[in-house]
Amino acid sequence: MTTETQAEKKKVIFSGMQPSGNITLGNYLGALKNWTKLKDEYNCLFCIVDLHALTVRQDPTELRKRSRQLLMQYIAAGLDPEKNIIYYQSHVSAHAELAWILNCYTYMGELNRMTQFKEKSQRHSENINAGLFTYPVLMAADILLYQTDLVPVGNDQSQHLELTRDVANRFNNLYGQTFTVPEGYFPKVGARIMSLQEPTKKMSKSDENPNAYIALLDPPDVIVRKLKRAVTDSEGKIAYNDNQPGIKNLINIYCSITEESIESTVERFSGLGYGDFKMKVAEVVVEELRPLQEKFRELEKDKKYIDSIIKNNAEKASYIAAKTLRKVKRKVGLPNTI
Ligand code: AMP
Ligand code: TRP
Repeated sequence: MTTETQAEKKKVIFSGMQPSGNITLGNYLGALKNWTKLKDEYNCLFCIVDLHALTVRQDPTELRKRSRQLLMQYIAAGLDPEKNIIYYQSHVSAHAELAWILNCYTYMGELNRMTQFKEKSQRHSENINAGLFTYPVLMAADILLYQTDLVPVGNDQSQHLELTRDVANRFNNLYGQTFTVPEGYFPKVGARIMSLQEPTKKMSKSDENPNAYIALLDPPDVIVRKLKRAVTDSEGKIAYNDNQPGIKNLINIYCSITEESIESTVERFSGLGYGDFKMKVAEVVVEELRPLQEKFRELEKDKKYIDSIIKNNAEKASYIAAKTLRKVKRKVGLPNTI
């Protein structure tokens, strides 16, 4: 088999993150780190979903800056911009076009059930815009445009993925095979990293309290300080259970970095006080992020290289997306371009 046909045979992976804040250790362990493990085995597209970010009011200059930083963090974390298609969603207009069409195949009732919509409309009660409501349809378009087989995401996205599958099946049933129906791909450990300040809430880049999360670009001393301050409990013993959510979260962080089992980690550290255990966690986090941060600083200096990646990958993505979009337009009865 030639390399090209092998490449064609590889399954397709699509995932994305919003450039809506500094990405956190939660994004890294729940998503980015897992992506890097898949990057050679599959045909991968990793998107910066900037159109999704507009569902919440953004400062324009900040948004542009963060989008570029996120792209560089993808690469710094180990994704390969030559082999993987790393690009901005807004550079490929097919996303917005397919989203419109799929809007007409998605029911209000389905969107009403989305927990992310409910949460976000509570948090941004002054700006419950239509985009926030149809957010999952744009996400479905992202995924379906590339005939995606697998979508690696954290557990919080499983409902959106189910909706994507429903919409794909509905369309296929109406018009014949058009979209690959994607599967979710969820990490076992690290799927849900919790806030360091309120360990029953997920760690989020939009948390108002920066002590609640570790940003990927936090310097080592900041990482140590935040972990030292992490909220624990008064049990005083290292154990993995829901009554000790703070400690459980720290164990999860430790294990998803070291890939050591939870049992052996608990056993090894069982004699330690919380302060010492926190330092052990801080050590592995700092060491895990060090090379990423160094690579990021190098990339930051190479404007031309990053620009060329942005341009080339947008072209590659547009080419693939256009094929699916043409097929969809034909099926629903839109006129051919002349
Ligand atoms: P978002 O920050 O919502 O754009 O999410 C980007 C990716 O990171 C998605 O795949 C999420 O499932 C994942 N993710 C976000 N927060 C966490 C978290 N606290 N723990 C694990 N994964 C997360
Ligand atoms: N909704 C996802 C999140 O908040 C981001 C996202 C948008 C995405 N489009 C996607 C993830 C397509 C995977 C595939 O995390």
